[in-house]
Amino acid sequence: MAPFSLLLCFLTFFSLCAGYASAAAAAAAAPLDGELPNGHFEEAPKPSNLKKTVIIGKYSLPKWEISGLVEYIKGGPQPGGFFFPVPRGVHAVRLGNEASISQDVVVTQGSVYSLTFGATRTCSQDEVLRISIPGQSADLSLQTLYSSDGGDTYAWAFRATSKVVKVTFHNLGVQEDPTCGPLLDAIAIKEILPLKYIRGTLVKNGGFESGPHVFKNFSTGILLPPKAKDQISPLPGWIIESLKPVKYIDKKHFQVPGGLAAIELVAGRESAIAQIIRTIPNKFYNLTFTIGDAKNACHGSMMVEAFAGKETLKVPYMSQGKGGFKTASFKFQATSPRTRITFYSAYYHTKLHDFGHMCGPVLDNVIVLPVSSH
Ligand SMILES: *[C@@H]1O[C@H](CO)[C@@H](O)[C@H](O)[C@H]1NC(C)=O
Ligand SMILES: *[C@@H]1O[C@H](CO)[C@@H](O)[C@H](O)[C@H]1NC(C)=O
Repeated sequence: MAPFSLLLCFLTFFSLCAGYASAAAAAAAAPLDGELPNGHFEEAPKPSNLKKTVIIGKYSLPKWEISGLVEYIKGGPQPGGFFFPVPRGVHAVRLGNEASISQDVVVTQGSVYSLTFGATRTCSQDEVLRISIPGQSADLSLQTLYSSDGGDTYAWAFRATSKVVKVTFHNLGVQEDPTCGPLLDAIAIKEILPLKYIRGTLVKNGGFESGPHVFKNFSTGILLPPKAKDQISPLPGWIIESLKPVKYIDKKHFQVPGGLAAIELVAGRESAIAQIIRTIPNKFYNLTFTIGDAKNACHGSMMVEAFAGKETLKVPYMSQGKGGFKTASFKFQATSPRTRITFYSAYYHTKLHDFGHMCGPVLDNVIVLPVSSH
C-alpha cells in the first residue's frame, strides 16, 4: 500500500507542480495582443503643439514620433468640404506628403507579429501607405475602398529581428495638396504563435483560427493584402495571391461557419487564397471545405472555385445575406510531393443596400485527408 500511495502522492505533487509552472510561464510570457500605446490617437497633442490641425514638434503626438506634415484630425465634416470618417473613437492622424509616424515596440526577438490598422485614403486614388520595421516593409495601395464607412482595416506581419522594433507608417506620396494622404484611425499588434499540429487534416490553420488582432468594439473585418514572395503572412499557413486582399472575419462581428473566424472572399477572381500541402504522389486525397455568407447583407448567386492538383470544383451558393453555409468536397490525386490548394470567388458582390461595400462568399473549415485509392 505504501509504495502505491507514495507514487500517487508523487504524481499529485508533480502535476500540481507542473500545473503551477506552466501557469507561471504563461503569465510571464502572455503573448502581446492589443492596441499600441495611444494606438487610437485619442490622447491628443497639447493645444500649444497644434497649429490648426498640424502637429508641431517631433514628440508632440503622445507615445509617437512624427516626421513631416502630420495632422491631428477629428472625424466628421472638415473645412473645405472633406468628410473624414473615424469609425473607432473620435480622433485619427493624417499623413501628408512624405510624412510618417513611428513608435518603438518591445517584442520577443524571433517571434512573428501582426499589426492591425485602420487606414483609408483622403484625397486621391493613388495614396500608398508604407508599413515598416527596420529591414522589412510593405507598400499598401489604398486605391480600392472596401467599406463605405471608412472602416477599412488591414493587417501586415513581420518577424522581430531585435528586442525593440521601430514600427513606422509612412506616406510615400507627393500630392499637389501637401496635406493629402492616408488617414490612420487605430493600430494594434498581436504576436502570432507558431501553429500547433492538428490531427485529422493536412491543412494548416484550415479553420482560420489563428490570425491578426481584431478590434473589439468595431470591425468591418481585416483585409489581408496579397504578399510578396518570402513575406510573412498575418494568416499563418496561407498565401494570399494575386492583386487584391481577402478579408479576415471574426465571430463577434460576423457569422462564421465554425470556430472563431473565417475568410470572406471580397475581391472576386482578383484574389485567391492558397496553401501548399505535403502529399504523396499518386495517392488520393479528399478536400472538404465550407462556404456560406457572413450574415452581412451580402446577397446573390455566389460561386467558390476550389483547385487541388489537377481537379477543380465550382460550388454555387445562393446567399440571402442572412447567414448560412454548406459543405463541399472532392477527391483529387496528388501528382507531386507538394500540392497547392486554392480558392477564389468567381463573382463580385456588394451589400444589398450599400453598393460601396464589397463583400463575398465565406470560406471556412478547409480539411484534406488521404482516402483509400481507386
Ligand atoms: C469600447 O466601447 C466602450 C463603450 O462605448 C468604451 O467604453 C471603450 O473604451 C471602448 N474600447 C475601445 C478599445 O475602444
Ligand atoms: C470526403 O469527406 C467528406 C466529409 O467527411 C465526405 O462526406 C465525403 O464523402 C468524402 N468524399 C470522398 C470521395 O471520400
